[in-house]
Amino acid sequence: MCGIIGYVGSRPASPILINGLRRLEYRGYDSAGVAIVSGQRLEIMKDAGKIGQLAEQLARAPIEGTVGIAHTRWATHGVPSRLNAHPHTDPGETIAVVHNGIVENFYSLKKRLIRDGAIFQTDTDTEVFAHLIARFYNSGPLEEAVQKALHQVTGAYGLAVVSSREPDKIIGARNGSPLVVGIGEGENFVASDPAAVLEHTRQMIYLADREMAVLKREGVEITNLDNVPVERKPEKILWDLAVIEKGGYDFFMQKEICEQPRTIRDAMSGRVVLESGKARLGGLNLPIEALQDLERIVITACGTSWHAGLIGEYMIEDFARIPVEVEYASEFRYRRPIVDEGTLVIVISQSGETIDTLAALREAQRNGARVLGICNVVGSTIARESNGGVYLHAGPEIGVASTKAFTSQVTVLAILSLLLGRVRGTLSRKDGRRIIRALLAIPDQVQSILDRAEEIRRIADLYAENNNVLYLGRGYNFPVALEGALKLKEISYIHAEGYPAAEMKHGPIALIDRNMPVVFIALRDSAYEKVIGNIQEVKSRQGRILAIATEGDDLLDKWAEHVIYLPPTIEPLTPILSVIPLQLLAYYIAVKRGCNVDQPRNLAKSVTVE
Ligand code: G6P
Repeated sequence: MCGIIGYVGSRPASPILINGLRRLEYRGYDSAGVAIVSGQRLEIMKDAGKIGQLAEQLARAPIEGTVGIAHTRWATHGVPSRLNAHPHTDPGETIAVVHNGIVENFYSLKKRLIRDGAIFQTDTDTEVFAHLIARFYNSGPLEEAVQKALHQVTGAYGLAVVSSREPDKIIGARNGSPLVVGIGEGENFVASDPAAVLEHTRQMIYLADREMAVLKREGVEITNLDNVPVERKPEKILWDLAVIEKGGYDFFMQKEICEQPRTIRDAMSGRVVLESGKARLGGLNLPIEALQDLERIVITACGTSWHAGLIGEYMIEDFARIPVEVEYASEFRYRRPIVDEGTLVIVISQSGETIDTLAALREAQRNGARVLGICNVVGSTIARESNGGVYLHAGPEIGVASTKAFTSQVTVLAILSLLLGRVRGTLSRKDGRRIIRALLAIPDQVQSILDRAEEIRRIADLYAENNNVLYLGRGYNFPVALEGALKLKEISYIHAEGYPAAEMKHGPIALIDRNMPVVFIALRDSAYEKVIGNIQEVKSRQGRILAIATEGDDLLDKWAEHVIYLPPTIEPLTPILSVIPLQLLAYYIAVKRGCNVDQPRNLAKSVTVE
C-alpha cells in the first residue's frame, strides 16, 4: 500500500522519481506526487489519478533539482484527491513528507496540534507528521526533529522527509512498513521496495522497525530512533529488472500465469530427492527431533496465501498426521490464540510485508511458538523475523491478484508435508517417491493447460456478461473453489462465491436458476461421485455448468455446457493444476470487460495497513 521513493545525488531527480513510482504503481495507484528541492525552495506537484498523469504534468512544467521524494497512494484516511495526495508539507512549506502506513493516534495528535494553533489542510493522517516535525524543527538538524516527532506517533510508517533548509539530505524512517536504502556512487536512494531503484543500484540496506536513515550524496547513516548508530552492511539484489517488466505480455498477471511451469520448477529445485523419496529444506532451522516432536501446527495468512494454507492443512494432515489449524492472520492476532512451544506456526505471505500476517507472527513468537515463514520476497520483514523459512523463488509478482505465488506456495507446502511425513515415519520411501514423481511432472502438466489458453478464452467470453458466479469443489479442491472465486471478483468485479460443493444444499442452492453459472471442480478423485451428485442438483434447477474435469472423463459432457480437461495427478497435487484454468478464466473475463487487470480498483498488492 503506497509506494515511496527518494533520491539524493547530482542527476535531475524528477525522471528518477517518476520511473521509480512506475515500478511501485502496483502498491497503490489512486494519486501520486513529488517534492523536489529546487534551490532553496520545495517544489511540489501532485494529483489524483495515475502516475502517467503526474508524468505528463511534470513534462509540461519541469521541476529542476537533484534531491526529492515521491509517492504513489492507496487511500486510507481521506478520499483520493489532489489535496490528500502526498507529499504533505508544514504550513511554511519548509518540510515535505511522504508516508506509507497508518498513524494510529492520529485523532489525538491532530486534536492536540489544532489546540496549539495548527491548521490542517487535508484529511490525511500523514499531515500530522508534517506539523509535528515542523514543531520540533528549530535549531537542530532535520533528523533530530524527525526522531522527536516519531516518538509521539504510534502506528505503522515508512517515511521520507526533505527540507528546504537542509537541501542536500533525505531522512527515511520505518516502523511496520518496509523501507530500503539503495546505495549508489555519489548518490543514494530510499524506497519502499528495491524494485523502484534497481535500475540504479543493487546494493540495498533494509531498515528494521524504529530505525532511521540520513541520506546524503556522500553516504548514508543509520541510527535507531534514540539516535544510537546502527551498523548494517548492504545486501546485493540478485534478480534482474527484466523480471519486473512485462516482456511482451499485455498484463503482468498474464505473464505471471504463464511463468508458472518455471516458477513451480524453481520452488522444487534442489528440494526433493527422488532416489530416497525425501525432501530437503535448508532454511527450516529446526532439528529433526523438533520436527518429530511437533504436536500441532497453526497456519496463518491473508487472501490467496490463506487459501494456500488451507491446502497445506489437508496435505500436512494427510502426509504427516499432525493436527493443523488454519486461521486468518487478522483474526489470529486479536484472539488470544492458544500456541506454545509445542506448536509450529507457519506464516505464509507472498510479499512478506502484510501487516496482519506480520502481527500474527509476532503474537505467535510472544507466546513461545517457533515461526516458519513461507515468503516470496527475499529480505522482507516476515522472512527476516521468522525463526526459519522457505522462499518461493517465484520472482517478483507485480499483478495485484496473486497467481504464480499461489502455485509456488502449494508446491512448497507439498514439499514441507512430504518432509514431515518422512521424518515422522507416516510416509514410506515408496510413498515419498510416488509424491516426488508426481511433483516433478507438474510443471509440464501446467504447461499443457496453458497451451489451451485460447480454448479457455473462448469459454470466458461467454461468461463475461454475468453478474454472479458460484465455484464449487470438495476436499483438496474446496480451497481452489475459494481461490477461483476470489480471482474473479478481484479483477472483473463480478460477484463470485466459493463453497464446499456439499454445503450448496445449505443455502446457495436457493440462488440457482438459468442465469447462475456454476463452476464445478469435478476431478476423478475420492470426492468425484459426490461432486457428480451435486452437479445433478444444479442441472435439475437449470443452472449453467462449467466443469473442470480429468482428461478421459466423458461423463461430464452430458451435464456441463463446457468442460475444461486437466491431466491426472495424485489427489493432493490437483489444486496446482485445477487453479490454472480458473486463473485464466478470471483473467480473460476481466480483459473482455475492459478492466485494468493488474491494478483492480480499491486493491493493493501489499497490504501494510490493518
Ligand atoms: C492482498 C493481495 C492478495 C494477497 C494478500 C495477501 O490482498 O491483493 O493477492 O493474497 O494481500 O498478501 P501476501 O503478500 O501476504 O501473500
